[in-house]
Amino acid sequence: MLLLRRCTSLTRFGPLNPQRLQVPPAVTSCAVRLCSSSSSSSEDQRSYQRVTTSSSFRYGLAGLLAGTGAVLAYGLHQHKAEREDVGMQAREKSSPLPIISQEEVTKHRSLEDGVWVTYKGGVYDITEFVAMHPGGDKILLAAGGSLEPFWSLYAVHNQEHVLEILSEYKVGVLNLEDLKKQQSVKSSDPYSSDPERHPALRINSLKPFNAEPPPEIVSDSYITPSALFFKRNHLPVPQVDLASYQLHVEGLPGGVLTLSLEDLKTRFPKHTITATLQCAGNRRSEMNKVKQVKGLNWGIAAISNAKWSGARLRDVLLAAGYGPDVAQWACHVQFEGLDKDVTGTTYGASIPLNKAVSEEGDVLLAYEMNGEDIPPDHGFPVRVVVPGVVGARNVKWLGKIIVSAEESSSHWQQNDYKGFSPGTDWDTVDFKSAPAIQELPIQSAITTPADGAVLDRSDETLTVKGYAWSGGGREVVRVDVSVDGGKTWQVAQLRSSDKGQSPEPSPPPGRAWAWKLWEVSAPFPADAQELEIISKAVDNSYNIQPDTIAPIWNLRGVLSNAWHRVKVRVREEESED
Ligand code: MTE
Repeated sequence: MLLLRRCTSLTRFGPLNPQRLQVPPAVTSCAVRLCSSSSSSSEDQRSYQRVTTSSSFRYGLAGLLAGTGAVLAYGLHQHKAEREDVGMQAREKSSPLPIISQEEVTKHRSLEDGVWVTYKGGVYDITEFVAMHPGGDKILLAAGGSLEPFWSLYAVHNQEHVLEILSEYKVGVLNLEDLKKQQSVKSSDPYSSDPERHPALRINSLKPFNAEPPPEIVSDSYITPSALFFKRNHLPVPQVDLASYQLHVEGLPGGVLTLSLEDLKTRFPKHTITATLQCAGNRRSEMNKVKQVKGLNWGIAAISNAKWSGARLRDVLLAAGYGPDVAQWACHVQFEGLDKDVTGTTYGASIPLNKAVSEEGDVLLAYEMNGEDIPPDHGFPVRVVVPGVVGARNVKWLGKIIVSAEESSSHWQQNDYKGFSPGTDWDTVDFKSAPAIQELPIQSAITTPADGAVLDRSDETLTVKGYAWSGGGREVVRVDVSVDGGKTWQVAQLRSSDKGQSPEPSPPPGRAWAWKLWEVSAPFPADAQELEIISKAVDNSYNIQPDTIAPIWNLRGVLSNAWHRVKVRVREEESED
């Protein structure tokens, strides 16, 4: 009953129908927590962990409806279904639970009427879970129907304990005829046309695809090769047919401006910038060590640097009718991607209007990455590049631009990619209370040596390498490195190019969009068998990274930018006989 009361108080949808709320006995002891991103297709794939308290169970089924890459009941061959017929009939006879028709399930599509779903022939009353879903009402999308099409989007749900949780909510079995109908529905894997990826990438989730390069190769290239550039997808990569591709620009007095890729290339000057993109969740794995957060367990390489070319957003907005009068009422520029979830909801985000139209903002509608067409994973044919701003606003596979008085209403703008106090937990978080992340804070990390490496004292010096970057066009002016846990510090050498190549020209003030690679060589501290190596960067506003993670810990594990620390062991020279 405790959980029941909690759920009722937590719901944003008003009181629940008490009849619907049969709390399964296992809930208080069920010991399973399914940490989810705050929507079905949000920043992370859910990370799952076991917990033992009923309070944590609130998040337990988060995202449950949103999908798994395993296309579970779909695509079954007819003959298999026939073989299973006998089993199904036996199932109906042997189940102590009532047999329920699809028609009945369909009646339960709201909190008032109860929220029922089906899965592999079982019927589940998940009404109470709706209030526990951090992502809000997206969970209702599956109400009255089958879970399978939702789960087919997110492979993370293909785990035994997810099914265990679901089983606690079972209220009946679907009647045989309706089950057969469901099974005859064929579905293909929505990720089957995703592009091939470089085998060196460290995969954080396969479907949707999220991966980062191994840290030790990150600082090998000032310009990250596109194949190794980190990849952060919330949904399947859309197949875009260039012949029919159109970019729509809306919300301006000139009416809707529709552009083909060719228009973008020929009607507007081509502008090139070197810019670093960083995911808000970069270095989340370090936050996880303090206390579990929700999200993909990114290491230090959800950050990469590329040359981007395309039309300036400013030029396109001017062509579409932007003028000073628009600035009187408009505050934001929204972007919509062409990637969609099963309901047709597209990825979306927005940036402040002043960034979009400023000559110094350098916001691009980019069609080239590193001198070639943008690869499918990075937004082919057109993506927004908003330099200095969190990766999430750099919308890929761009379909629509909307000048608006409002921020994007998308989940990723409203209920994700926001920072909170370490004291805010999932019971108290109010996503409306925090601004959407735009400019990112100062960041640095050590790429070599790797954490846990064993170094040889016979090497004359210890070489430490890494990257540093700051958001908002603030230039990194210094990186301090310590090889003795912070007792002494050395200033690292910064570079803005690959070794042996002439450095890129210094950026104009406020437009330092690209990272700096750095390197330092230090003598091995005498006698130490274990070293803690630290990096901390300073930008031209004298922003500096915080020294530890705990005070910046937040429930979504974003903005993780504390001093980077790696521990290495020192192997002593073998003494000669
Ligand atoms: N745009 C679309 N349409 N769909 C997405 O899933 N992911 C965003 C952003 N733009 C995303 C998107 C996020 S969270 C990040 S960090 C960057 O793209 C990652 O860009 P990349 O995959 O090119 O590295």
